[in-house]
Amino acid sequence: MAYDSFAGFLRALESAGELIRVSQPLATELEITEMADRQMKSPGGGKALLIEKPTINGQISPFPVAVNTFGSHRRMAMSLGAESMDEVAQGLESLMKAKPPTGFRETIKLLGTALELRHARPKIVKTGPCQEVVHRFGDDFAKWKSADSSSTVPTLLNLPILKTWPLDAGRFITLPCVVTKDPDTGERNLGMYRIQIYDGQTTGMHWQLHKVAARHGKRYYETGQKMPVTIFVGGDPAYTFCATAPLPDGLDEFLLAGYLRKKSVELVKCLTNDLEVPSDADFVIEGYIDPKEPLRAEGPFGDHTGYYSLADLYPVFHVTAITHRKDAVYPATIVGIPPMEDFYIGGASVKLFLPVFRMNFPEIVDIALPAEGVFHNLVFVSIKKTYPMQAYKVMHGLWGMGQMMFAKYIVVVDAWVNVHNTSETLFHLCANTDPQRDSLFTKGPADALDHATSEFAIGGKLGIDATRKLPGEGFKREWPPLIQMDSDVKAKIDLLETLASKTGS
Ligand SMILES: Cc1cc2nc3c(=O)[nH]c(=O)nc-3n(C[C@H](O)[C@H](O)[C@H](O)COP(=O)(O)O)c2cc1C
Repeated sequence: MAYDSFAGFLRALESAGELIRVSQPLATELEITEMADRQMKSPGGGKALLIEKPTINGQISPFPVAVNTFGSHRRMAMSLGAESMDEVAQGLESLMKAKPPTGFRETIKLLGTALELRHARPKIVKTGPCQEVVHRFGDDFAKWKSADSSSTVPTLLNLPILKTWPLDAGRFITLPCVVTKDPDTGERNLGMYRIQIYDGQTTGMHWQLHKVAARHGKRYYETGQKMPVTIFVGGDPAYTFCATAPLPDGLDEFLLAGYLRKKSVELVKCLTNDLEVPSDADFVIEGYIDPKEPLRAEGPFGDHTGYYSLADLYPVFHVTAITHRKDAVYPATIVGIPPMEDFYIGGASVKLFLPVFRMNFPEIVDIALPAEGVFHNLVFVSIKKTYPMQAYKVMHGLWGMGQMMFAKYIVVVDAWVNVHNTSETLFHLCANTDPQRDSLFTKGPADALDHATSEFAIGGKLGIDATRKLPGEGFKREWPPLIQMDSDVKAKIDLLETLASKTGS
């Protein structure tokens, strides 16, 4: 189901009892974080918050802030108009099963074709709510640069953008959908890369080394041409999810969004560059990056890792226009010590792409990224093992698949282990391994945010085979049975308990 706006999603959350309105003024600087963090740390992810009177330097913003809107399994599924992520994943799986691929390249091609077949191709429309209010920069950059939060000129300084943690370098847009195009092929990309506000008209652009927009950017730096970039926030929440989804380079995220919302994404042309954005977005920030300009320090920022990511050099983005809906809502998130809202977003991606993993590794039963591992630091995989060393084949395969390259620890367990239960998985890890025999150290690219690697963006990886050992795997003794109760005895005690609960004895 498609939402016609982010506000439409908020209405659905409210009717489902998933949203709390906060009517007292709350500062965009730190206070919203503290309130949101308490919800995110509540069992199951708490509730979404709608801060009706966010303040910027003491002044109430006309735009409410929504936070923690994806922060539970239920809200994450609701954002895609579904009851559960299993339902969404099953749909994609059956679509791809129509003609099973024979290799990874073919899987990616098939994913694209499958999405297109479902009328998911985006459409260009003439105009839309996201351009109801238009502020072009013109040549009067100075006016924008000097505007402060009390100015009537809507600049980046008087949008309710959060400063999330005390040592952050400033305010950051935390749910930005960043649109770029490959200058060689014209292929579009939608990615989520945080945006640090430098002044009313310039920002940082934190696309990390391995991300698709960074590759697009590299091409512009090679040719020296100005790079058009547009950032938008809000609209149908499916866009926000798709911007975070690790789709292969070259596959348009708007295709995935169209498939998920069962309705093509309607795109409008930007007013000051040649990119397109969803017509129902809440805020659109158009602009460019000039490769002739030096990179600029971005950060520190309290990050997904639970630590501050330190300042580093990134491109500078110049705003040429800001457009927005009249009734715009500003969606935001906070990241930090887990569990946080991003756990549910990352988990949804894994669920959705499990069929793609399975097409290449049919032995995979399930994959989980526990909250403690902050996205991909720790990966639990269960497999139906039929031959020796199969766990190692799966580890190598996963490290070679897209953003799974960032996984620091991969633990492989047998099919019957519930990888979404961290305690159960750790029990099997501890019980079934001889650390020396069952672990594999290797190296590879590391997440640019990982502060623990000795060098930036490269590091070690540990794979642990916690499956039951087969002949040929160096284990020469008898493998003992796992303790399990007799099923008749269990049934009898179930019955006794049911009777006792009915009679109250
Ligand atoms: C809340 C949130 C913030 C993120 N911030 C960044 C960021 O600042 N830089 C970055 O490179 N990736 C960031 N990511 C991860 C990317 O969005 C993710 O890797 C995505 O798949 C990138 O898209 P791409 O493969 O099209 O480049 C963030 C993810 C989430 C959920």
